[in-house]
Amino acid sequence: MSLQVYLNGQFVDKEQATVSVYDHGLLYGDGIFEGIRVYNGRVFMLAEHVERLYESALAIRLQIPISPDEMTAAVEETVARNGLKQGYVRLVVTRGAGTLGLDIRRTSNPQIIIIADTITLYPEELYENGLEIITASTIRNHPVALSPRIKSLNYLNNILAKIEATDAGCLEALMLNHRGEVAECTGDNIFIVKRGVLKTPTTDAGILEGVTRNVVMELARKANVPVVECTLDRHDIYTADECFLTGTAAEVIPVVKLDGRPIGDGQPGPVTRDLRERFQTFANGD
Ligand SMILES: Cc1ncc(COP(=O)(O)O)c(C=O)c1O
Repeated sequence: MSLQVYLNGQFVDKEQATVSVYDHGLLYGDGIFEGIRVYNGRVFMLAEHVERLYESALAIRLQIPISPDEMTAAVEETVARNGLKQGYVRLVVTRGAGTLGLDIRRTSNPQIIIIADTITLYPEELYENGLEIITASTIRNHPVALSPRIKSLNYLNNILAKIEATDAGCLEALMLNHRGEVAECTGDNIFIVKRGVLKTPTTDAGILEGVTRNVVMELARKANVPVVECTLDRHDIYTADECFLTGTAAEVIPVVKLDGRPIGDGQPGPVTRDLRERFQTFANGD
């Protein structure tokens, strides 16, 4: 049977799951989304993802036509119908079809799309050996222009940085903010370990407040690793003992080089390995 996609309250075959070419999600990137993991048939951190979705909606003044509880049930049902045990849910809400113009008053019916599928972001060996990343020249969106805390369909900023990574033969790029400080990567948050302390940029560095980021900080605190949210610059990363990224798709992945410079001893560090293991255990509900 074909993969069943939730589309505005109906379940339709993947091949028939379509939206209008006049949808402002397509025309202007006017919409929001979430990416959510499924572990052992359980939707991971669903309440947190739904909360962030509704916050993104509020920030762009998009009225989602169903309640957070209904959205939660719709995600659960999409996962169940597709018999998904290990996978990834893409939840999208677009502004809906409108006229050719930016005016949101001329749109109607936001489109709610829920896809329950699988994802592999990085090859398995990189979780063992670590990623090499570069600093992109494209900075993260200025938060006063478009807050990176909104998980919007407008990902061009990150895509441009990702192209720089690809051109440099890397799979991820570090993005700085408008002040030249470390913000995050194109689809992941960034952490370092320095003298046993876990450090990550604050949300006012202009980052997405990652669900995985918050989980990892909590797991670290429980493991008695001190956690500090603070301003970081590239010097902090070049001189860190360890570095890793977090994200729903990426989970916890070590970074061993930035801009060709080895971080620490150039191998995934013990705190990173331990937190990755704790994350896997927590996510899988062991
Ligand atoms: C720009 C950006 N930063 C960070 C993250 C990580 O956030 P989360 O852990 O909620 O997936 C993502 C992925 O969603 C992202 O797109």
